[in-house]
Amino acid sequence: MRKERSLVIGAAGQIGIELVIKLKEMYGAENVIAADIRPPHAEEVADVHFEHLNILNHEQLESILEKHKVDVVYQLAALLSASAEKQPDLAWDLNMNGLFHILNAARKGLVKRVFWPSSIAVFGPTTPSVGTPQITVCEPNTIYGISKLAGERWCEYYHAKFGVDVRSLRYPGLIGHRSLPGGGTTDYAVDIFYKALERGSYESFLSADTRLPMMYIEEAIRATIELMEAPAEKIKIRSSYNLSGIDFTPLELAEAIKKDISDFTISYAPDFRQKIADSWPQSIDDSVAQSDWGWKTEQTVDDLVSIMLTELRKKKLISETSHN
Ligand code: SER
Repeated sequence: MRKERSLVIGAAGQIGIELVIKLKEMYGAENVIAADIRPPHAEEVADVHFEHLNILNHEQLESILEKHKVDVVYQLAALLSASAEKQPDLAWDLNMNGLFHILNAARKGLVKRVFWPSSIAVFGPTTPSVGTPQITVCEPNTIYGISKLAGERWCEYYHAKFGVDVRSLRYPGLIGHRSLPGGGTTDYAVDIFYKALERGSYESFLSADTRLPMMYIEEAIRATIELMEAPAEKIKIRSSYNLSGIDFTPLELAEAIKKDISDFTISYAPDFRQKIADSWPQSIDDSVAQSDWGWKTEQTVDDLVSIMLTELRKKKLISETSHN
């Protein structure tokens, strides 16, 4: 029996690149196709077939699905929260039609399973913000959050009405060392590590006490693959599952970095992203994901800091050696 073949759309992005690497490790390079409007830059994905794809072109998408006999699609192309506030029309077009094109392809039988990421951004200022439950008030007040909430409803609808096997996670802020996120509100928690190593100081665009749910990206990739490999009958939520890792504030993250870089300093200059962060939960209850498909994670801020600093130091050593 041949192994399932996956297509990762948005493969050059923060999540995409990590997912391509993991899928390749698990199923072999011949069973992963990377697609994006620009090729991903990482040595580890050099042997993965790349397709140039603008997700807004559904004919191109369908021809790629047919050509490569794709079984599973991960549709990750989107504008994140801060970028979406600056380009609302594009964000709505990309975030919604990108999803529709995949759902419609799945409805036509061109693909067996679909993953589409949702976000903590589906919640809003009226949502209970500590230990936010799976089913609760969702009144997002950002374009990104509105697009994610609408997308969740469409996923559930396509599953109920047309039997599309679509699965989704509400990712918290994701932190990784391989690729920079772009245009998100939780991006400070990635950027801070680069600045800590480059200059020993960081100016945060969120205030000291802004608590947000976060997760190390490899844990998010593990969750994604576990969700996609679970038997269909275990996936009872067809909108999107809450997913929780750790939660911390910029001040707490800075304190953890100081344990390694003792003279690290942080200053605060909140900008428009503060309002977005203030509308999101501080921590998430993911007990439904735990009981439905066995999700479990254990992380601490100290573990996260240690991995990030170690990996970025290695990267710096490599880039310094390659420039000599
Ligand atoms: N990390 C995303 C953002 O900040 C939220 O899903 O936009």
